Amino acid sequence: MKVNGVNYRTIWLEDGSSPCVKIIDQRYLPHRFVVEPIESFDGLLRAISEMHLRGAGLIGVAAAFGIYLAVWEQRNLVNFQEALEKCALKLIKTRPTAVNLRWAVERQLEVLAGVENPDDRVAIARQTAIDIAEDDAGCCRKIGLEGVGLIEDIARNKNGGVVNILTHCNAGWLAFTDYGSALAPVYEAWRRGVRLHVWVDETRPRNQGASLTAWELLNEGITHTVIADNTGGHLMQHGLVDLVLTGADRITTNGDAANKIGTYLKALAAHDNGVPFYIAAPSSTFDWSLSDGLSQIPIEQRHPDEVRYVGGWLDGRLQNVLVCPDESPAANFAFDVTPARLISGIITERGICKPLPAGIKKVFPEKFNY
Ligand code: MRU
Repeated sequence: MKVNGVNYRTIWLEDGSSPCVKIIDQRYLPHRFVVEPIESFDGLLRAISEMHLRGAGLIGVAAAFGIYLAVWEQRNLVNFQEALEKCALKLIKTRPTAVNLRWAVERQLEVLAGVENPDDRVAIARQTAIDIAEDDAGCCRKIGLEGVGLIEDIARNKNGGVVNILTHCNAGWLAFTDYGSALAPVYEAWRRGVRLHVWVDETRPRNQGASLTAWELLNEGITHTVIADNTGGHLMQHGLVDLVLTGADRITTNGDAANKIGTYLKALAAHDNGVPFYIAAPSSTFDWSLSDGLSQIPIEQRHPDEVRYVGGWLDGRLQNVLVCPDESPAANFAFDVTPARLISGIITERGICKPLPAGIKKVFPEKFNY
């Protein structure tokens, strides 16, 4: 996507004599556009756990680059494999809900297994990270093309009237290498001239909607309105939402989907009001080993201070303001699971499927052994 007329991805390599991974530091958006160079495994680990970057797809890609950095640093060690596995575990532990991260790390470990030559190790890890980043962007581009029909159909039914879409958190290009998942069909529809408007849930506690989704949409010139998280139900009751479109951090084979905390409530409101509720995600977000999201997906709990404080830009720097009594404890569940029965369909790079084992199997038959 373009920022001030320049094409950017959210993560890229600028290797010199040693590896350098560059990322857009999302902590500063929408106030400043900051690019951060990362030259060590520990630096990348910190970037993921401290949310310099986030989003299911992007943390997967970042983890793949993390393995590349780890391989570079440890390429000559006698106990290379053991050291690499330690790094892999550290990466997987940073963000336990989004399965893309584990998927990318496992893909790296698989191709590196048994490679003895240090130069080969580095070359393989580097190329695999680049491939994972490319795949991620490619899948998101296809999600846009597969999902745009939903928006075009609504526009047609409204005789060209404005299509109102509600989204939660940030599932735009900042959450992947490029294009995004939930926002990819929105961008495609906008490019095709569909008249649309996006309701942007602010998405407490970290406000990825207010800060990142709003910034992306503004950047593309797409009409949007930021709303407090609790507003969606009211809008749906009054016919002001035609479609809810969100991303996912992990989808199980029965069609349950974990996504940013609060998604479930939007799905309930959509169901009660007859509003279609779609999830958009690449195949790397499916956990083929789990068959029930509610009981099996681990839910990340982050630091309570993310709830107790609100962050923003003041006096030329990022600052946090306390919003509850200092003595009050807080709980910070970062994700919830929307049961399949509340989901109208899942938009993937291979098409839209029903959130049922049979529906998912139709699109990804090779993942099922029955
Ligand atoms: O905690 P985050 O910002 O990494 O949350 C993940 C997400 O970006 C959202 O849940 C999103 O909707 C999933 S799609 C990338």
